[in-house]
Amino acid sequence: MSDSDTGVTVASSGMAGATSNDMGRSEGGMPRLSAITLRVNDQERRLDVDPRTSLLDALREHLHLSGTKKGCDHGQCGACTVLINGRRVNSCLTLAVMHEGDDVVTIEGLGDPEGLHPMQLAFVECDGFQCGYCTPGQICSAVGMLAEVEAGWPSHATADVASPRVTLTDAEIRERMSGNICRCAAYPNIVAAVRSVAGGDPG
Ligand code: FES
Ligand code: FES
Repeated sequence: MSDSDTGVTVASSGMAGATSNDMGRSEGGMPRLSAITLRVNDQERRLDVDPRTSLLDALREHLHLSGTKKGCDHGQCGACTVLINGRRVNSCLTLAVMHEGDDVVTIEGLGDPEGLHPMQLAFVECDGFQCGYCTPGQICSAVGMLAEVEAGWPSHATADVASPRVTLTDAEIRERMSGNICRCAAYPNIVAAVRSVAGGDPG
């Protein structure tokens, strides 16, 4: 590959004949921005983003919704969990441009200090956090998880995967929340918080 900044012919990557201008860059060498519209916390938000921008960075850096946390940035900790069209997603693992028109709910959209979501309230009442860094992701994940249970989705801990109804034991809660890591190890109280919202039997 030649080392000039613009108009570079890329041969070593197998894209012979492609130039940097073909690869999402404007004439000045800056990334070409993509216009997208997301529905975030019930508000339509229009953004111009580098197409490589993760949804996490779009939320935090472009929309200044810093409630969603960046932990690993590699899909391993769950701190960045948000709800997209009602389903929980690691926002560090998906590009903002993939969500044109999607409905995104962050921790800020679930509730606020004057009107907490029941899951937020449960985390407060059950002491489900210490430093709080993982908590927005835990809460969004728990809300999405309960919707999955309601829909009858089995997990690795489900005894009878053919049953249309899931019995939400504490083992089920732990398994279904296992993608959300808490470095303060507040796990027993997180399970208690989810249990208090879900009701039912710990099993
Ligand atoms: S920051 Fe996304 S999973 Fe860790
Ligand atoms: S409360 Fe500190 S990381 Fe979970």
